[in-house]
Amino acid sequence: MKPVKPKLLIARAMFPDALARLNEYFELEQNQEDRIFSQDELAERLQGKFGMICTSSAKINRDLLSKLPELKIISTIAVGYDNFDLQACTEHQVMATNAPDVLNETTADFAWALMMATARRVTEAEHFLRAGEWKKWGVDSFVGVEIHGSRLGILGMGRIGQAIARRAAGFGMEVIYHNRRRLNAEQELAAHHARYVDKETLLRESDHLILVLPYSPESHHTIGVAELAKMKPGATLINIARGGIVDDAALIHALRYGKIAGAGLDVFENEPRFHPDFLDLKNVVLTPHIASASERTRRAMVNRAMINVIAAVRGEVPPDLLNRDVL
Ligand code: DGY
Repeated sequence: MKPVKPKLLIARAMFPDALARLNEYFELEQNQEDRIFSQDELAERLQGKFGMICTSSAKINRDLLSKLPELKIISTIAVGYDNFDLQACTEHQVMATNAPDVLNETTADFAWALMMATARRVTEAEHFLRAGEWKKWGVDSFVGVEIHGSRLGILGMGRIGQAIARRAAGFGMEVIYHNRRRLNAEQELAAHHARYVDKETLLRESDHLILVLPYSPESHHTIGVAELAKMKPGATLINIARGGIVDDAALIHALRYGKIAGAGLDVFENEPRFHPDFLDLKNVVLTPHIASASERTRRAMVNRAMINVIAAVRGEVPPDLLNRDVL
């Protein structure tokens, strides 16, 4: 008789070939049709499961965990884990893991893509062309704000923030940053001589401000009316972190009345829904949470999540364990 394998829920569609390896260790329940489960359905599907591989769409809270006495590990393919209540996980003896590092460079690339598209009005100009409105070259047509030689501000200077800063070397930009913890001298040097400033200075002096901080109740609406009012009128704001860090209604107001030059947003409050007024604004570039979306990186993220659940089933400590006190 074959030994019974522990059960694993794959909560979202994944690369089929990447998942094949998990079959060696687990009896898999897949979701290749990629439905987003309600909390009730998640609770039902997780009954009797050893673990789950998920994305940020799975909300793991105390109520859900209280219904799942057999659950041992939840493993997200994302680096962000604001959808996990870590304390509740620990109380329920559930290991929680994320997928750090593998997406740093790809995500940093995308922050630059959004910043450049916003500053140079790329999507606005493309819509103009596609709409058949391009009749002549104009000296002031689609003039944007400068990137090279300007001052890049970074709020949240973790590994992705530092990867963004390194790219500033090629554009001759000065880098300033604010973070809960100041980097050491060696890290600042490697981050294109990034200069630590207080949040107030960052807001006032950045020509382009990129948000890379994690979402938590403390970082909710870090950028709201007061913060936007401190930014330069010609500045751009780029959010690749999480919705909720920016007060979207306040940002819409600032964009509408030209308080800042533009915004590039990959994340939104309550996504995948977003404030409909964004669609009426020309000075905003909108993308559907794709900063880490290169095939190689998405595969690396899935792989990292797999390594974590395989370690757990082997009785090893998962390398990306977030709640070490669970041990
Ligand atoms: C992450 O890894 O946190 C990305 O935002 C995808 O959710």
